[in-house]
Formats: sequence, structure tokens, C-alpha cells
Amino acid sequence: MVLSQNQTIILFLAIYLSTKLTVSASFANGEDYEELCHEREKEALLSFKQDLIDPSNRLLSWVAKEDCCKWAGIVCNNVTGHVTELRLSNAGNHDDRTPLKGKLNPSLLSLKHLSYLDLSNNDFAGIQIPSFIGSLVGLRYLNFTETGFSGMIPHQLGNLSSLRHLGLRSLDGFIYARNLRWISGLYSLEHLDMSGVNLGEVSDWFLTFNKLSSLSELRLSFCGLDYIQRPSSVNFTSLSVLDLSFNRFEYSLLNWIFNLTSLFHLDLNRNSFIGPFPNISWSSTSLRSLDVSNNYLNSTIPDSLYGSSLENLNLGKIPSAVGNLCSLEAIFMAGVVSEVHFANLTNLNRFFASGNALILRVDQDWIPPFRLVFLELGSWKLGPLFPMWLHSQIDLISIDLSNTGISDAIPGWFWNLSSQFMKMNLSHNQLFGEIPRLLNVSRESRIYLGFNNLTGLLPRISSTITVMDLSNNFFSGELSGLLCHPIYGVQSSLNVLLLGANLL
Ligand SMILES: *[C@@H]1O[C@H](CO)[C@@H](O)[C@H](O)[C@H]1NC(C)=O
Ligand SMILES: *[C@@H]1O[C@H](CO)[C@@H](O)[C@H](O)[C@H]1NC(C)=O
Ligand SMILES: *[C@@H]1O[C@H](CO)[C@@H](O)[C@H](O)[C@H]1NC(C)=O
Ligand SMILES: *[C@@H]1O[C@H](CO)[C@@H](O)[C@H](O)[C@H]1NC(C)=O
Ligand SMILES: *[C@@H]1O[C@H](CO)[C@@H](O)[C@H](O)[C@H]1NC(C)=O
Ligand SMILES: *[C@@H]1O[C@H](CO)[C@@H](O)[C@H](O)[C@H]1NC(C)=O
Ligand SMILES: *[C@@H]1O[C@H](CO)[C@@H](O)[C@H](O)[C@H]1NC(C)=O
Ligand SMILES: *[C@@H]1O[C@H](CO)[C@@H](O)[C@H](O)[C@H]1NC(C)=O
Ligand SMILES: *[C@@H]1O[C@H](CO)[C@@H](O)[C@H](O)[C@H]1NC(C)=O
Ligand SMILES: *[C@@H]1O[C@H](CO)[C@@H](O)[C@H](O)[C@H]1NC(C)=O
Ligand SMILES: *[C@@H]1O[C@H](CO)[C@@H](O)[C@H](O)[C@H]1NC(C)=O
Ligand SMILES: *[C@@H]1O[C@H](CO)[C@@H](O)[C@H](O)[C@H]1NC(C)=O
Repeated sequence: MVLSQNQTIILFLAIYLSTKLTVSASFANGEDYEELCHEREKEALLSFKQDLIDPSNRLLSWVAKEDCCKWAGIVCNNVTGHVTELRLSNAGNHDDRTPLKGKLNPSLLSLKHLSYLDLSNNDFAGIQIPSFIGSLVGLRYLNFTETGFSGMIPHQLGNLSSLRHLGLRSLDGFIYARNLRWISGLYSLEHLDMSGVNLGEVSDWFLTFNKLSSLSELRLSFCGLDYIQRPSSVNFTSLSVLDLSFNRFEYSLLNWIFNLTSLFHLDLNRNSFIGPFPNISWSSTSLRSLDVSNNYLNSTIPDSLYGSSLENLNLGKIPSAVGNLCSLEAIFMAGVVSEVHFANLTNLNRFFASGNALILRVDQDWIPPFRLVFLELGSWKLGPLFPMWLHSQIDLISIDLSNTGISDAIPGWFWNLSSQFMKMNLSHNQLFGEIPRLLNVSRESRIYLGFNNLTGLLPRISSTITVMDLSNNFFSGELSGLLCHPIYGVQSSLNVLLLGANLL
């Protein structure tokens, strides 16, 4: 059917008028404004407001004589006039805004067209999430992040089958669930954040989430989880973000995690995973960020993992089996990292791997494919020569090469790079020679050069330096240059200065 323009307008008006409850027929001019809001929904919102405590008057505009579609935080469908969104988040920094308190009035149930409810970062301290929320079946977005609720999550939430986003992140851990069977009703769910929710008593949590085949982001940090049932198949293959950090998982790394071929971000930080990292072929090419730090893994990651496009790699500390020469040797055998491993890591910009007994063996003229911003290789074996490849790392703002067996002079270009460092830790090496007479760092910075063989006079330093550790070297001469003549800036921000064990 092809309509003329006039017919279209008439059709539109007919739909428009038939869906309105209150119609004032004047469309003539703006003064005679026709209210979009439905009376019944306005009343519901006023009742909702009545049960809230609003110390900073965020809901000042919520008054009966105004069109509720123009109230703060309300979004209406601009054709039907139904309230579709309630945006009352208190996230962000506002000096003039305080969290809403009080309780949630079930009058919200009159908002039949509500699809978006955001109450994040308000403060409903001590009350439970009301079960009537489960009857707002049109909801596609529900955010109760850090709202202070406590007690058990009502299973009625499982009726929200249109829900795409559910935020229940809790700071204080007062929300809990005894089982999660209700979650299988949320089959449209794409983003779920239950971090901080106590799930310690839920044994079948994994199998439940595994049924949610649309899930792309699952955050379960700080949930007290300690057990994962072995799945017969991994169903949520669309998962791209998985955060299981700060739980209590104890056994060796779970091979099924590597069947999640769409993973982009995997965070297993701060658990008790033990044993070697599974040496399996990493079929996924999507992983950009991996954090397995603060576990008890005793091998490095498999070579195949270096083939993916990691941007952020956090291996944390891999403790060595001290006193067992065979396994120590084995670790070293597995622990030689060379140019080849980095060949495809063109996007790597954060590399945290301090504490590992790994060896980096690269040519002095190697030019890495990446440009790092953070580099932590403390306790790796890098020396005896100063790593020349750092020359190309012109974006570095933080570097830790402490205790890496470097026995060399610090090249001049390195001091040029250092002008943008926030942290430099070159301590516990055998660095020798003099350092520049001026250390000019453009931002607040901490510098650790202790336990080396550095000689010459103390440098003058810029007032931006907050920590300066030159202890346990062979510096000589006077203190006055360092202390009395800061480079630019009136007030020095130095608050730690270590000069012990020198020849001053
Ligand atoms: C309704 O609002 C949307 C988004 O603000 C806008 O794109 C659209 O043109 C509006 N429709 C009418 C009929 O005003
Ligand atoms: C879903 O709603 C129905 C009524 O509409 C109710 O009987 C049922 O208990 C609810 N289910 C859950 C899981 O809350
Ligand atoms: C919920 O709101 C918080 C704070 O506004 C936000 O950071 C978070 O991403 C939201 N959660 C979801 C699931 O959209
Ligand atoms: C995976 O999904 C299929 C189809 O949706 C379902 O039949 C099967 O039970 C699911 N498997 C698991 C382990 O949840
Ligand atoms: C993981 O993938 C491998 C091969 O791709 C398959 O043999 C194995 O059954 C899968 N495991 C799970 C738990 O899906
Ligand atoms: C790593 O830990 C596992 C489990 O504790 C052990 O069986 C294995 O021998 C260890 N490997 C090395 C190289 O220490
Ligand atoms: C890992 O497996 C590959 C073959 O899949 C093998 O070549 C390699 O030596 C293994 N690495 C270790 C440390 O066992
Ligand atoms: C790097 O990528 C090339 C081409 O995609 C591939 O042949 C090579 O095996 C990759 N290297 C590593 C260490 O994964
Ligand atoms: C600097 O390195 C030393 C030796 O590895 C370490 O003990 C110290 O904690 C590091 N300091 C900082 C601030 O990283
Ligand atoms: C350090 O930077 C200055 C000015 O940017 C430049 O003149 C000098 O050649 C650089 N020194 C080295 C060793 O790269
Ligand atoms: C120190 O560096 C700043 C810029 O980072 C520059 O403006 C200033 O002139 C430098 N001071 C000295 C004494 O080199
Ligand atoms: C550094 O000084 C120690 C003595 O403190 C000495 O044994 C060592 O040989 C020196 N190393 C270098 C490279 O100068």
C-alpha cells in the first residue's frame, strides 16, 4: 500500500489520538502545550517519589502540574506518551547530588511500558530487592549496581525474560543467592554483573550460566566461588568478557575456558589456581587481555597464546619450586622468551610479568613490534647488557627492570625516555657509571636506583619527583645540589629520599 503524504499524516494522527488518554485538541501553538504524559503513570511516579528520601532535591521537577515526560530522569515514548525509561543513577562525581534513599513503591507496576530502570549508586541500605520488580516484564535494562540492597535476590527476577542487561554489583557483599535456577528464565541476557554478590552456597552456578547462550559479558568477581562443575559442553560460546577474579578456585586451570573462542577479556586474578598453565593449542584469536596473576601457576603461558593479539598481559608471579633442581631446570627450559614470541603482539601495551624466573633472550638490535606503556619484568633474567630494544619504547610511563642481572652503564637515550616516567625501578642490578647532572621528569614520579654500582655526583632533580632511592651505590660529593636546587617549581614534592650506603 502506497500512501500519499496527507494520508500518512491522517493515519499517524489517528493512531496518535487513539492511544492517548488525555487529549487537548489544540495543536495550534506552543503556549497551549499538550501534555504527553498519561495521568495514571504520573500518579504512579508521584507515589514512587513519595516513598523516596531525596535530600538534594534531585526530583524537584516531579510535580503534578508539569508533564511527567519532562521530569528529570524520565523518558517517554514521544508518540504514545508512555513512560519507557527511568534513569535515576547516581553514578559519577556530583557535589550537588546525594543518593536517593527510602524504599521502592510498587506503584512502578503501573508503568506498563517501562523497559529501562537504572537506580545504580543510590542507597537503599538494608532493604531487600523488592520481588515486584520481577513483574516489570517489559524491562530490557535493569541496573541495581551498588544500591545498598541486602538479603536474598528474589527469584521473581527470573520472569524478566526480555532483560538484556542486569547489573547487581554489590560493594558490601550483603546480597546473596542460594540457588540461581531462576536465572535460566533470563534467556535474552547479554550483560550480567553480579560481582560482590555472595554466591558461596550456589553449587550449580556454572551450569546455570552455561544455559544463557546470548551472554557476552559475565562478571563474577568477589562472589566467594570455589567450585566449577565440569560442563559436558560449553554453550555460552558468545562470551567475550569473563571476570572470575578474587574468588577461591583451587585446582588447575580449567581447560574448558579455552573453548570460549570469542573471549576478549579473561580475568582470573587472585584465585588459587595451581599447577602449570595448560599447554594446549589456543584456537582463539580474539583474546586481547589476560590476567592470571596472583595464583599458584608454576609454568609460563603456552607458546600458542603469543600468537593472539594480546594488548594486556598480566602473568603476575609464577612461584618457582625452590630447592628442587630438576623442576627449576624445567621452569627455565620452559621459561626462555625470545623475539619469536612477540612477533605477532603488535598491540601489546601493558606487560606485567614481574616475579617470574623467566629469561628474555633477544638480539641487541631487536626492534619489537609493540609500543609499551607499562613494562614490569622485575626478577626476569635480562642482563648483562642493558636492553637496547627499550630505545623504541617511547610511550613508556612505567618501567620495572629491577633485579634482572643488568651489569652495564645506563645509555644516554634512556634518560630522555625517563622524562615522562611515573615510575622507574632499576634497583638491584649492577648498573655502573654516572647518571645525568639533571633529572628532569615532567610528571609526578618515583625513581628507584638503589643497590647498583652508580658513581659520580648526586643529580639535581625536578620538583615533580616524589620518591628518590639512590641508596647502596657509590655516589660521592655533597648533598646540597640535590636538596637545595630543585629544577623549576617552587615547592619540591619529594617525600622519600634514600641515600644510605654511599660515599657522600
Ligand atoms: C521521537 O524521538 C526520537 C528520538 O529522540 C526522534 O528521533 C524522533 O524523531 C521522535 N519522533 C517524533 C514523532 O517526535
Ligand atoms: C513468574 O510469574 C508468574 C506469574 O505471572 C508466577 O506464578 C511465577 O512464580 C513467577 N516466576 C518466578 C520465577 O518468579
Ligand atoms: C550499571 O551502572 C553502573 C554505574 O552507572 C555502570 O558502571 C554499569 O556498567 C551498569 N551496568 C550495566 C549492566 O549496564
Ligand atoms: C546447550 O544448549 C542446548 C540448546 O540450547 C541445550 O539443549 C543443552 O542442554 C545446553 N547444554 C548445557 C550444558 O546447558
Ligand atoms: C573443547 O574443545 C575440544 C576440541 O575443540 C573438544 O574436544 C572438547 O570436548 C571441548 N570441551 C568442552 C567442555 O566443550
Ligand atoms: C607444577 O605444579 C604441579 C601441581 O602442583 C606439579 O605436579 C608439577 O610438577 C609442577 N611443575 C613444576 C615444573 O614445578
Ligand atoms: C607444548 O605443546 C607443544 C605441542 O603441542 C610442544 O611442542 C611443546 O614442547 C609443549 N611445551 C611444553 C613446555 O611442554
Ligand atoms: C604469527 O603470525 C603468523 C602469520 O599469521 C604465523 O604464521 C605465526 O605462527 C605466528 N607466530 C606465533 C608465535 O604465533
Ligand atoms: C623495586 O624493585 C625491588 C626489587 O625487585 C622491589 O623489592 C621493590 O618493591 C620495587 N619497588 C617498586 C615501588 O616497585
Ligand atoms: C635527548 O634529547 C635531546 C633533546 O630532545 C636531544 O638533543 C639528544 O640528542 C637526545 N639524546 C639522546 C642520547 O638521544
Ligand atoms: C625540564 O623539562 C621541562 C619540560 O618537561 C622544560 O620546560 C624545562 O625547561 C626543563 N628544565 C630544565 C632545567 O631542563
Ligand atoms: C659492583 O660492586 C660490587 C661491590 O659492591 C662488585 O663486587 C661488582 O663487581 C661490581 N659490579 C660491577 C659491574 O661493577
